[in-house]
Amino acid sequence: MGLPDIKTEAARRRTFAIISHPDAGKTTLTEKFLLYGGALTAGAGAVKARQGRRAATSDWMEMEQQRGISITSAALQFQYRDCIINLLDTPGHRDFSEDTYRVLAAADAAVMVLDAGKGIEQQTLKLFEVCREREIPFLTWINKWDRPGKGALELLDEIEQTLIVEPTPVTWPVGLAGEFKGIIDRPSGNYVRFERTARGSTIAPEEIVPAEQALIDEGDVWTAAQEEVELLDMLDRTVDQKTFLACESTPVFFGSAMTNFGIRALLDGVVDLVPAPSPKPLADGRRRAVDSDFSGLVFKVQAGMDKSHRDRIAFVRVCSGQFERGMLAVAGGTGRQFSTKYAQTLFGQDRETVDTAFPGDILGLVNANDVRVGDAIYAGEAAEFPPLPAFAPEHFMVARVRDTSKFKQFRKGIAQLDEEGAVQVLRDPDIGDQAPVLAAVGQLQFEVAVNRLENEFGAPVELTGTRYSIARKTDSASSPKLRAMQGVDVLQRANGMHLALFESKYWMDRVLSDHPELTLERLVAEGGLG
Ligand code: G4P
Repeated sequence: MGLPDIKTEAARRRTFAIISHPDAGKTTLTEKFLLYGGALTAGAGAVKARQGRRAATSDWMEMEQQRGISITSAALQFQYRDCIINLLDTPGHRDFSEDTYRVLAAADAAVMVLDAGKGIEQQTLKLFEVCREREIPFLTWINKWDRPGKGALELLDEIEQTLIVEPTPVTWPVGLAGEFKGIIDRPSGNYVRFERTARGSTIAPEEIVPAEQALIDEGDVWTAAQEEVELLDMLDRTVDQKTFLACESTPVFFGSAMTNFGIRALLDGVVDLVPAPSPKPLADGRRRAVDSDFSGLVFKVQAGMDKSHRDRIAFVRVCSGQFERGMLAVAGGTGRQFSTKYAQTLFGQDRETVDTAFPGDILGLVNANDVRVGDAIYAGEAAEFPPLPAFAPEHFMVARVRDTSKFKQFRKGIAQLDEEGAVQVLRDPDIGDQAPVLAAVGQLQFEVAVNRLENEFGAPVELTGTRYSIARKTDSASSPKLRAMQGVDVLQRANGMHLALFESKYWMDRVLSDHPELTLERLVAEGGLG
């Protein structure tokens, strides 16, 4: 066997994230992908997940299990057909939307999950906006077709009207929501009928039924589906790769993650439609070819994922070249070299050591202490990626250690949380770390911070509220003037960024109109994604 060819390996990668409003079925769909990818032992995974419902494969932290939300973002890898699928998990809760944003920076596409009974919900819309802004093409999975919901045409209309994106169904349901029989696979015209399995714990048997037989077996339901498909043909609602890649159209799949109906068609869609990794733009505007020297983007840094290994993992999306465990790589942020001896990947539920990886793959680098979210790591020619946008925090609390003998631990803890991007840490240069302000997009981030400071770093803290409600980016020239004003404070992030905090938007607008000479820049998603 010859050496693997980087271009060929990259061409068989599909790297995507699932986005959805909480409860639409993202976790269930993830499990079913693993089931169909052979990465979950038939039955066992699903049954286990059902018993301890919230202990699904990609949930780690105790807190998230208790609350039933996914706080950590994980990446799972499995094979399907001749492709290697890298599935990035995104947190479902809106308080962690900044995290989702970073995860999407590592994805080549997304699967948007809609609950057939609810259509487009608030969080779906916001996540979709992130996709559009980053030009991430997305497939749409209309889930829960096994129970009563909206009509299929009505849902298409909702997608078109709300997202201003043209829905192009790849599959079409036979049977109204709640009476799901199977799907018409539009490209082949086949009617694929499914059979239920106990609790959807094994792959749903599929049967291709000829049209004449379908009419006999399904009667009116079949005729109705046929007519709708004809209508779609007439309207020319067929998948178009060009508009899909431009986020102007979305291929749509109907199904039920619970009963496994339609999962295979969706996975086929992922393989056939999601673009393989392509040359990534660099900060200087050039693009780095997939087969050039190794480079990767750090999109998440996470500590304490597993109580039995107190480690810190940097999740890296390979952008170019071949990664080999043990190779020396440079951390772009500091320019320092480090060894990549401890590289892991997640296959299904297990962490495994990874020896080689190709563009599109996700690596977990253990104890990569020098790296921060947004950094490039590389070997050979240097690489720097465009900066990830800074999110506008909307909640601000002062943190103080409750037991002053634990100040060292407290300091280390907040520095770590800041580097991970779990919360933003803002300091008054005159006060330093005694009483930093923690800034967050969502309140739950504070709970995670307090919990981790106490349990992971041994530093119990007390949070007290502040008067601030809105932040803008400013600079060292404007800071003294802003500081001298009432109702305004200027604090600094560890990277030197100055943030001006205001009590109210009203007050900020007044300062802006009275002092147009001051620098006050908007941050990403101000008042938007939360
Ligand atoms: P999330 O990660 O997007 O938050 O959603 P999750 O998969 O946890 O699913 C939310 C609920 O919806 C779960 O029910 C799940 O079983 C159910 N669900 C997911 N997919 C389907 C589907 O295709 N059809 C139907 N009918 N239900 C689906 P739960 O009551 O919270 O948990 P459980 O007791 O059913 O496990």
